[in-house]
Amino acid sequence: EIPALKEVFEDYFDMGAAVELNHLNGPHQEILDKHFNSIVAENVMKPETIQPTEGNFNWAQADAMFDYAEEKGKLVRFHTLVWHSQTPDWFFMDAVGDPMVVDGEILKPENLEENKALLLERMETHVRSVVERYKGRVDSWDVVNEVIDPNELDGFRKSEYYLITGTDFIHRAFEIVAEMDPDSKLFYNDYNSHQPAKRDFIYDMVVDMLNNGIRVDGIGHQTHINLEYPSIQYIRESIVKFADLGLDNQITELDIDIYTNDTEAFGSADEIPEEMLTLQAIRYQELFTVFRELGDHISNVTFWGIADDHSWLHNRPIPRRNAPFVFDEQLQAKESFWSIINLE
Ligand code: XIL
Repeated sequence: EIPALKEVFEDYFDMGAAVELNHLNGPHQEILDKHFNSIVAENVMKPETIQPTEGNFNWAQADAMFDYAEEKGKLVRFHTLVWHSQTPDWFFMDAVGDPMVVDGEILKPENLEENKALLLERMETHVRSVVERYKGRVDSWDVVNEVIDPNELDGFRKSEYYLITGTDFIHRAFEIVAEMDPDSKLFYNDYNSHQPAKRDFIYDMVVDMLNNGIRVDGIGHQTHINLEYPSIQYIRESIVKFADLGLDNQITELDIDIYTNDTEAFGSADEIPEEMLTLQAIRYQELFTVFRELGDHISNVTFWGIADDHSWLHNRPIPRRNAPFVFDEQLQAKESFWSIINLE
């Protein structure tokens, strides 16, 4: 009988995994039940699943995850209320059915105010409907996901949301959730949040919101990392920087890609060299050493999957097999599992 992750780290943070509905029974469910006390939906709580066409809400899959979590006494992270991706095109169509934005340009500048009102209304209706249904049952909301792109001139991603509403969509979303579900925790979630330039854009955005009386409780660090980047030092500094602002931190989508370039490829798990998995185990150990050390400032650590048989990293960006987690394709504990169980 191997130790349970959630028990090993119970004094420090909650342990979570991203799940699809077919993981809620069978062997995946056993791993989930034993090792994790928190879940997040890998896909079914995104806008395209919940409201595929305007006004038609599809709650069945999200409901099933909440029911499972409640039956098993697990926390739920809600991912995600507002995002530029996996959001249906109808959100961004104007009153006559034309796209508001084409190739990054506003199509009808003369209609900007009207389109802004329409888009904000749709965003609000979506957020209010979801929060009304699930309030009181969510530990942490990913209110807004991935709005920073430090390669853009002012740091904000030039999404339809941003081009049409500026930062209003971000502020409104946080205000609505704060008002409707006051006891839950509100997160801004992003990837590369440990990278200094991006970290600082996120920091400035959140400081601006806090100064305007908008409640933000924490930063969700996706932490999709690889064997080399980012450095442990960057990861530590980012957590400490937000903690110094009085914010909580969560690691929301953890995986460690075994590839450090876009060309190397192994076709199956068996072909992945043992040395790479050892390097991954060392990396996991360094990471969890920092997480534990900063446990007062990190309330949840969630993997973006359960075991190596299912990961969004497979075949990304080229056909190849990945092995990002601490359980292998047969759901057995890897060297990476033992390396985080046995911290110095
Ligand atoms: C990914 C899912 O894992 C995939 O199944 C889906 O096809 C695309 O989205 N950042 C996020 C997550 O916030 O929602 C993404 O999840 C991974 C990157």
